[in-house]
Amino acid sequence: MSSITNLPHPGFDAKVVNNQPSNIPSEYVWSDEDKPSTDIKELQVPILDISSFLSGQDDHVATSQAFRLVSEAAKLHGFFLVTNHGVQEGILARAYKCMGTFFDLPASEKQKAKRKWGEISGYADSFYSELPWKETLTFRFSAEEKLRSGTETVKDYVSKTMGDGNEEFGTVFHEYSEAMNTLSLNIIEFLGMSLGIERRYMREFYRDNDSILRLNYYPPCKQPNHTLGTGPHTDPTSLTILYQDHVGGLQVFVENQWRSIAPKPQSFVVNIGDTFMALTNGIYRSCLHRAVVNKERERKSLAFFLCPQMDKVVKPPKELLEVSGQRLYPNFTWSMFLEFTQKHYRSDKNTLQKFSDWLRSKEVIDNKLAGQS
Ligand code: OGA
Ligand code: NI
Repeated sequence: MSSITNLPHPGFDAKVVNNQPSNIPSEYVWSDEDKPSTDIKELQVPILDISSFLSGQDDHVATSQAFRLVSEAAKLHGFFLVTNHGVQEGILARAYKCMGTFFDLPASEKQKAKRKWGEISGYADSFYSELPWKETLTFRFSAEEKLRSGTETVKDYVSKTMGDGNEEFGTVFHEYSEAMNTLSLNIIEFLGMSLGIERRYMREFYRDNDSILRLNYYPPCKQPNHTLGTGPHTDPTSLTILYQDHVGGLQVFVENQWRSIAPKPQSFVVNIGDTFMALTNGIYRSCLHRAVVNKERERKSLAFFLCPQMDKVVKPPKELLEVSGQRLYPNFTWSMFLEFTQKHYRSDKNTLQKFSDWLRSKEVIDNKLAGQS
């Protein structure tokens, strides 16, 4: 189940835990149903070479073939890879290196950026039962603030919380977020066009996005079969662009089976999140996924979650309603959905449905209250 307990948590040091003779602490042991199996087949996902779309070369045949491949995957499970994405190798290498530097810092340094209750940005080990075997550092990235006043949200957060000596983190993760912002707007435009929507529509919808960059660090674990790095969930956000290193561990639940997504150098794994699923009236799907951990090797991943501006109303464009008929989800804003997943519900495979039910019941109560006054 999924209610958030927010237990105070003593802090997580995998090096200490792994060196003890005993088993891993029980908080990290997952239910038998969720424990990872070892015999997992690889999922073949389409590879989108986005270079000709980006360069504007009008190769109609190649583009419509790419639309078809990605569209098929988006309807089935929502995962594909992107190559020739235009993100400079140096940006990726610097972000990956900096991420290692951060998680190697002593706990007291990392705690300076500790995430506060209800906030997006910050460092977290974790605060659920069935604890994930990982540490994360999360940054809010606001394209709107950048466009409006030149504010660099990631850089400002780092200098405010981590202070002197850590300026490089701010610069590097700002640079990485900007590259992800550009790439995600290109991909969302591509996805919109693959649905037959007017070219600029999706780019405009997400131009002033309020997105999230999360660094995931999965330490080695002496009992990887008992725990999970990230539990089964769909991403409540719109589009996820994940860089996973060479170690591997990402798995997707497709047609009733867990399947792995093998790392591919210099490419990003892209997946659709619940908000984009709602925006397409359920035509493109967000899919359950998780990350398993490893006995010998640590693993790192960087996830950029594209999200709409907080107050923008998420409702499908009319072209899609003509195709798919009845509305599946009520109107909502990202700030409502974010609050739901942060305060009321831990993301799992039913998040979007539960959120819709919650909105509908709230609407009933609000109407009743309005009727009484
Ligand atoms: C996530 C996620 C998978 C991974 O951060 O939402 O699904 O491989 N991560 O780190
Ligand atoms: Ni995810």
